[in-house]
Amino acid sequence: MNVSKVTDGIYQLSINIENMLFEGLWEVPDGVSMNSYIVKGEKTAIIDGVCGWDGVPEHFYDLMKQMDVDPKSIEYVILNHMEPDHTGWIEDLRKFHKDFKVLCTKKAAPMLEAFFNHTENITVVGDGDTLDLGGRVLQFAEVPNVHWPDTMVTFDETSGTLFSCDAFGSYGKVDHGNYDDLLEEKDLLFYEEEAKRYYANIVAAFSMFVDKAIAKCATLPIKIIAPGHGVVWRKDPNRIIEDYKRYASYQKGPAKKEVTVIWGSMYGMTEMGVKHAIACLEKEEDIKVNVHRVPQEGWGHILGSAWSSTGLVLAMPTYEYKMFPPMAAVLEEMGKKKVQNRKVFRLGSFGWSGGAQRELDDINTRLKANWEFIEPAEFKGAPTEEDYKNIEAGIKALCQAVREAVK
Ligand code: FEO
Repeated sequence: MNVSKVTDGIYQLSINIENMLFEGLWEVPDGVSMNSYIVKGEKTAIIDGVCGWDGVPEHFYDLMKQMDVDPKSIEYVILNHMEPDHTGWIEDLRKFHKDFKVLCTKKAAPMLEAFFNHTENITVVGDGDTLDLGGRVLQFAEVPNVHWPDTMVTFDETSGTLFSCDAFGSYGKVDHGNYDDLLEEKDLLFYEEEAKRYYANIVAAFSMFVDKAIAKCATLPIKIIAPGHGVVWRKDPNRIIEDYKRYASYQKGPAKKEVTVIWGSMYGMTEMGVKHAIACLEKEEDIKVNVHRVPQEGWGHILGSAWSSTGLVLAMPTYEYKMFPPMAAVLEEMGKKKVQNRKVFRLGSFGWSGGAQRELDDINTRLKANWEFIEPAEFKGAPTEEDYKNIEAGIKALCQAVREAVK
């Protein structure tokens, strides 16, 4: 766990989580950081917590000493959001410090009881409420559904620091000094890519609420954004705000001039077709291409690529009268995340019967994805010369549709 100074009177406690699935589902090959913040006025508050804390009081005491904070002086625990990645530590804190007060939203309080049986010293706060720490005042604003319905942000009026919880967060482990002013442009680009995938996995379904939260936060004189995951934006907080606005806009499309190929194959017949499709795509130099194979690759990266792509190539065989199952599973999840209004070209092989398109049409209708389909290229067994020509024509039509949508 690292301790660092954000600005006068504000410190960050951060821990990197690796070798796990975030939310038990999303692969994070480059890890993810959990950030917590100590805010010192005459009184002291801790904002959010960090899962993975070992619960050893001596360790916590050591960290507090580095910040010149007496742990027993923590009077307030501010829970911006009840999800256990930010609150799982509260029982450990209670083991050696019983007198803190919890501040959280009306929706968070019953969840705090349900998850941790914590019912004491809770003050419910909402829009416009403040907490005077003596020498500095914290202000609260509710941002429901970014990410859970109970979510709020906390704003320090003295320094202009927005403690934004899941909003403006990213994947990617961070080392000591995870601040945009200490990072090179190549590092910032890495974290922005991690932020896009984090957004697509965690926040995407709630994009309408992200827009509302950004509009609400725009009324605050923000100088620093201190999220619950990832980089602290001290030099250019507007950069991550603009990123998040753009990510939210990708939900209904158009997104970027990108095509994501998602493919699966049983015996190599669909693979023959998809290889030709990728070769055709590579000739379209103005279009970025992402390629993912199912079930070999995790959903997190597939969703991340699809989120910023205006075009999709879906290549899968028919399997027992339906779509190749791992493809159906990932498309269902894309539909639930509301990856909408994409241009889609499908290709794939079948043995004795087709059926993949029927299931694709069902997903498109049921989840209101509003995907616009190019004429598919479906073939019995291995693709023939004519099938290869159909694939080439499908890719050309898809790229044209993407260009027209994005211009
Ligand atoms: Fe980082 Fe929704 O918790």
